[in-house]
Amino acid sequence: MKENEALSQYSKERLTKKDLNDFSIKLNDLNEKVDESLEDYLDTKKQYNQKQTTKEQVKAKKEVYEKAKERYNKAIKIKAFKNNLDNINSIVNKMDENDPSYQKAKEEEKYAQQLYNDFKEVVRSRGKYGSLEKLNDIAVEVKNLSFSYDENGPLVLDDVSFKINKGEYVAIVGHNGSGKSTLSKILIGVITPNHGTVKMFGNLMTPQNVEKVRQFIGIVFQNPDNQFIGSTVQDDIAFGLENKRVDPKDMPGIILDAATRVGMQNYLDKEPLMLSGGQKQRVAIASTLALNPDIIIFDEATSMLDPKGKREIKEIMVDLKNEGHKTILSITHDMDEILNATKVLVMNQGKMIKFGTPDEVMKDKNFLRSAGLELPFYGMVEEALEKQGLTIKSGAKTLDELVDNICKIK
Ligand SMILES: Nc1ncnc2c1ncn2[C@@H]1O[C@H](COP(=O)(O)OP(=O)(O)O)[C@@H](O)[C@H]1O
Ligand SMILES: [Mg+2]
Repeated sequence: MKENEALSQYSKERLTKKDLNDFSIKLNDLNEKVDESLEDYLDTKKQYNQKQTTKEQVKAKKEVYEKAKERYNKAIKIKAFKNNLDNINSIVNKMDENDPSYQKAKEEEKYAQQLYNDFKEVVRSRGKYGSLEKLNDIAVEVKNLSFSYDENGPLVLDDVSFKINKGEYVAIVGHNGSGKSTLSKILIGVITPNHGTVKMFGNLMTPQNVEKVRQFIGIVFQNPDNQFIGSTVQDDIAFGLENKRVDPKDMPGIILDAATRVGMQNYLDKEPLMLSGGQKQRVAIASTLALNPDIIIFDEATSMLDPKGKREIKEIMVDLKNEGHKTILSITHDMDEILNATKVLVMNQGKMIKFGTPDEVMKDKNFLRSAGLELPFYGMVEEALEKQGLTIKSGAKTLDELVDNICKIK
């Protein structure tokens, strides 16, 4: 059947997230120019008051500032995104509901509406916010990353490269000081590598777009007390949403969903003082989930908790993995956790010395020891039996598997 002609014409010219993204980058640049030229103008004015420069200089700087402001104001007045929405609105309105293209037109209308809402958000945030498009399914791609905290100091990260696909659960292990937290700080964009690149879903992280790339990723840190910013659970979850300029009327629903996700829905009015370490970590996870990042880093998020708290947090992490929507990077000392992972990344003195499946990594028990790591508990049992001269199939991932393998010993 023939597609509606007006719709197929629209499809050829429609605006996409890529257009909004380009607009957002341009607006961000224009805004920076306004800020810079204003600063320059004010400085020059000050110099003039101290008789260090001429009136003409001040006038020239003022003109530069006013031009920058004019360009910015012109940019935010563009009608393209509104026109795009109006076009598809009018196509849908003229269409018969039985038209075979009707559903597609309705979907296009929804997309254009979202795009226009996002456009307004981009303008409100002066190009700083607004989402990037995912260009591929590689959640994190790191290439030749090197970093040192001071110029002449040792390399804390030394030529690290890896790829993590969307939906993977990667356990990052390595003894203290091997560079794991430094790697996570680079991934969340708080420090910039000396060499190498980071891409998220195909988007290269640059100083200009770091705020936007950061929207793909969230982090839960080790210390539950340092992460609680709000005065109540509710406030704490709201904090990130406010920063992200979420519409206040959407917040209660998002907060309740996120709190329910971690079993803290009955604690919304509670203060941090009233909560255990494990509960505070659950709130930290809820605060991260509320922002709906695609990637979550847990940087030793369970290491300061009691066994019950540890278990609960690990369960949430495994649930997230099983739901399959999030990509998880879990920095951990808990070698049992590597059994939950799809991949294990081993760090040693700033170098990535292994990146493979749990089986591949656990196979070589001596290798793990040489990297300063313990074996997972089941691995220790296997090794103890081998020392007694028993031959057991190694690499059990569950207690049942281990018991099975023990029963098969001849
Ligand atoms: N802010 C900092 N300034 C200087 N050196 C640091 C800083 N943070 C970490 N380091 C050093 O960098 C190395 C790697 O640290 P880190 O990334 O925290 O390792 P890990 O998380 O694997 O324990 C260590 O030698 C540590 O002392
Ligand atoms: Mg660390």
